[in-house]
Amino acid sequence: MRVDVVSIFPEYFAPLDLSLIGRARANGVLHLAVHDLRTWTHDVHRTVDDTPYGGGPGMVMRPEPWGAALDALAPAEAPPPRLLVPSPAGVPFTQAMAHELAAESHLLFACGRYEGIDQRVLEHAATRMPVTEVSLGDYVLFGGEVAVLVMVEAVTRLLPGVLGNAGSLDEESHAHGLLEAPIYTKPPSWRGHDVPEVLRSGDHGRIARWRREEGLLRTAARRPDLLAALPADRLDIRDIAA
Ligand code: ADE
Repeated sequence: MRVDVVSIFPEYFAPLDLSLIGRARANGVLHLAVHDLRTWTHDVHRTVDDTPYGGGPGMVMRPEPWGAALDALAPAEAPPPRLLVPSPAGVPFTQAMAHELAAESHLLFACGRYEGIDQRVLEHAATRMPVTEVSLGDYVLFGGEVAVLVMVEAVTRLLPGVLGNAGSLDEESHAHGLLEAPIYTKPPSWRGHDVPEVLRSGDHGRIARWRREEGLLRTAARRPDLLAALPADRLDIRDIAA
């Protein structure tokens, strides 16, 4: 997969050299390039922002550098990438979207700063490529950089060959619309707290039932919205009894 990121703070992306993402890059699974938006400015101050039309606080990113950046990274003659623009006003980023993005061949992330990017950049880009404004959650960050780190990590771990044990993708939280059950390792007793007996029983059927029940209880307590969104056939009478 090819991923291009455009930002006025390319240094934010240094962690993408580390750990499993660094390895995915070294192995050629992930071709990631970070670009400085100011490359596409032409004045001595390398200006990227200006005051908002209609008034209001803060600054808005001017369209010209963004237009030139997108022309360079998504040229008309090449297959168009999917453009993702982090914004607190975007659609929620979910595990389902991470799977959707992992199936794309080229992602282009545009990191806004200040109050955001002039909307015409997105309108114009949408005439040439699919554009999605994406939100990490209902809170406001300084800019899109941290959101892109999150999304690149969530997507990279779904690429074939990145996780040693692909089975863990099937069991983790959100894999089936539920939160994962608690997990334990050795020692069996620590500071007076014991590992649940069922997990040491060796009875795989019981363990699977216990995990599903604990996942349901956690989901009901912490994320009732997820439980409500679960298709009826994923929730049977045994679950309600549990
Ligand atoms: N930029 C600023 N806040 C954001 C958020 N919550 N999600 C994605 N991008 C953002």
